Amino acid sequence: MEPLDFSAKTSLIAGVSADMIEIYRSLIPKAGKAGLMSRNEKKLDQLMQRLIGWGVDAASFRADVTDSASVLEAFREFSVWSKRLDVFIYNVGVVSNESASEVTESELSRVMSANFFGFVNCFQLVMPMMKKTGGGQAVIISGSSALEPERESVAYAASNASLQIYTKALRRELAGTGIQITELYLGKMQSGAGWRWLTCEEIVAGVLRALSTVPDRLTIGTMKLSE
Ligand SMILES: NC(=O)c1ccc[n+]([C@@H]2O[C@H](COP(=O)([O-])OP(=O)(O)OC[C@H]3O[C@@H](n4cnc5c(N)ncnc54)[C@H](OP(=O)(O)O)[C@@H]3O)[C@@H](O)[C@H]2O)c1
Repeated sequence: MEPLDFSAKTSLIAGVSADMIEIYRSLIPKAGKAGLMSRNEKKLDQLMQRLIGWGVDAASFRADVTDSASVLEAFREFSVWSKRLDVFIYNVGVVSNESASEVTESELSRVMSANFFGFVNCFQLVMPMMKKTGGGQAVIISGSSALEPERESVAYAASNASLQIYTKALRRELAGTGIQITELYLGKMQSGAGWRWLTCEEIVAGVLRALSTVPDRLTIGTMKLSE
């Protein structure tokens, strides 16, 4: 796999986490401009300071993705910091435990808001920026069991199913614009007779593969575990 060169690129991670900033560490010295977005100001500042300490040109933008006004303000600040946006990674995701027969409207709304509407709120502002510079790539990080309500809660599965249908429609409408959308599904790893979560290194390697090969869909790990 060709090493990625982001020197001339600007990226933005919504729902940035300590795992996600390791992507930039592996790109150094060709990490380009790194925008970080999340709802927690203190955590954002810590992650940004860590990146700056590694020599990366980083900036943070506080936003609750479920609030379109907050997202608009964050993108207004982002577009002052960078005139371009080449790569957008959506890592926001909340889980739920309620069963289909018990789930409340407020729980469905909480999960749909973060996992589905949050992406829509962001992507409606990502698109014009990418179109202006001739394209870009969006990577949506989700779970490989996202569409299986028998394995995951109904709210989680419904939000991810909505996002998958939206993505399918978007991909068709964006044909020819140079904007590519990759759905990255994170699974689990077989470990002896049981299973384990993916490590940070495995997730970072998966994101880097998605960025360099630009597939429509990529799964890291598996759900086909022998239990
Ligand atoms: N890690 C895995 O092994 C794994 C496995 C399967 C699926 N996934 C999928 O991967 C994605 C990321 O999961 P993760 O475990 O890496 O999550 P994570 O570490 O909790 O990171 C998600 C980030 O999104 C932020 N966030 C949540 N709601 C937000 C909102 N309304 N506005 C702005 N930021 C918000 C969180 O902030 P706070 O800290 O304030 O909550 C957090 O910084 C999810 O879609 C998840 O379903 C991950």
